[in-house]
Amino acid sequence: MECDLTKGKAAIIVGAQWGDEGKGKIVDVLSQSFSVVARYAGGHNAGHTVIINGKKFVLQLVPCGVLREGCRSVIGNGVVLDPIAFLKEVGALRDAGVKVDGNLFISNRAHVILPYHRMIELASENAPGRVKIGTTSRGIGPTYEDKMGRRGLRVADLLDLKLLKTHVENACREKNMIAHALFNSEPLDSDKMYEEYAEASAEIAPFVCDTALLLNQAMAAGESVLFEGAQGTMLDIDHGTYPFVTSSSATSGGAVIGTGVAPTSIDTVIGITKAYCTRVGAGPFPTEALDAIGEQIRTRGNEFGAVTGRPRRTGWLDLPLLRYAGMINGISWLVVTKLDVLDELAEIPVCVGYKVNGKETPEVPAQASGYDQIECIYTMMPGWRSSTQGITEMEKLPKAARQYLAFLEKESGARIGMVSTGPGREQTIFLEEFAAQLLGSKEHGARAQG
Ligand code: GDP
Ligand code: IMO
Ligand code: MG
Repeated sequence: MECDLTKGKAAIIVGAQWGDEGKGKIVDVLSQSFSVVARYAGGHNAGHTVIINGKKFVLQLVPCGVLREGCRSVIGNGVVLDPIAFLKEVGALRDAGVKVDGNLFISNRAHVILPYHRMIELASENAPGRVKIGTTSRGIGPTYEDKMGRRGLRVADLLDLKLLKTHVENACREKNMIAHALFNSEPLDSDKMYEEYAEASAEIAPFVCDTALLLNQAMAAGESVLFEGAQGTMLDIDHGTYPFVTSSSATSGGAVIGTGVAPTSIDTVIGITKAYCTRVGAGPFPTEALDAIGEQIRTRGNEFGAVTGRPRRTGWLDLPLLRYAGMINGISWLVVTKLDVLDELAEIPVCVGYKVNGKETPEVPAQASGYDQIECIYTMMPGWRSSTQGITEMEKLPKAARQYLAFLEKESGARIGMVSTGPGREQTIFLEEFAAQLLGSKEHGARAQG
């Protein structure tokens, strides 16, 4: 391929917490000024909610760009693809009148989730003596294991029926033996599996291409690309609260590996954070609020998993973790979501630092057990006790809400570019410089200030 120096903007959207920060809504809003939206990590463990004119979409594998007319969507090589889940999602989108044919592309290098991955995950999650992660049971971990173990099936191989048959027969035999020996699982039928996946293969074929080439050609032609992160920084396989993480590189670095674009092609990284904090599944959560206020936030914020329906654990904004996310991802812009959920609180605790053995530390622990040693230092911020729902201009926010945002901005070290005041597309505040950079427009509001 010839190299062209002209390129459009490339921005990465990354979750700055434990996922569910509202990435879907923000990708949807920003997709108005991008030509391509690309997913780079995870699989259908993600649940990205977009609400357009009151109509709700929960996208798991398909990038949110698909909902924007004229926008192409890419499922990159870093994603693990369950073909059956993909076809189900595409079917539901078609039924809802969304155009998917001709504008949605799957990488031929993405790895395929097969039923034995789910079988092994379920069995091992429940096995005695194993650390229970509280996964989404989608087979994500075992699929990435096979990828790294160099025994996985890629989408290109799924389309090659002869290879698919041999792979399914051999892998099934091996996985059945392992699952039986370790977990006493019932064996899976490889013939049935082959038939089902051969059928899916034919339906998937029209979506498959070399998406790295597609993205690089698009950028070379001056088109802009938005990388849609899934999960969040603290769920990243390397940088998160290991082992209570997912199995992919959810951080911004994952975007280049997971799609095949060069690090030098990325212009900006946008970190998404809630105005508070949540996590689903097991693992450390220093600012967790296990009291009635935590419950109140869960109800007001509708904090139930978009995929599994599990109640999300709730807690307070954790600035040490936000600074860590800023460092690991190179976040230049922050988007603060769900500000409206805090509307009723008289005061809002914010964790401003960590103490270990009575001494303040800028370090985030490498071990899950390290979080047990942490004592959070809290500051109480005044609440605003009035509705911010649907506000679209910074100046119209109550003073205490502006102060809260200004504090967050100052302490996080990144600029606030957008604030979300409700789940809908329009319930969004744009800050001027961000809008100018990302949307090419200067019509939107002023900077966050106290
Ligand atoms: P994602 O995984 O990061 O895309 O986030 P999810 O879609 O899993 O969870 C975010 C939830 O919050 C969804 O139900 C959104 O509709 C909702 N949401 C997003 N932004 C806002 C906001 O500013 N205010 C409120 N009240 N809800 C929001
Ligand atoms: P989005 O993209 C929140 C969590 C699971 C579990 C851990 C490992 O919607 O933000 P896995 O099935 O990936 O092996 O589970 O990761 N998890 C998420 N939590 N949002 C997500 O995605 C998540 N994807 C995985 O709850 O704790
Ligand atoms: Mg989600």
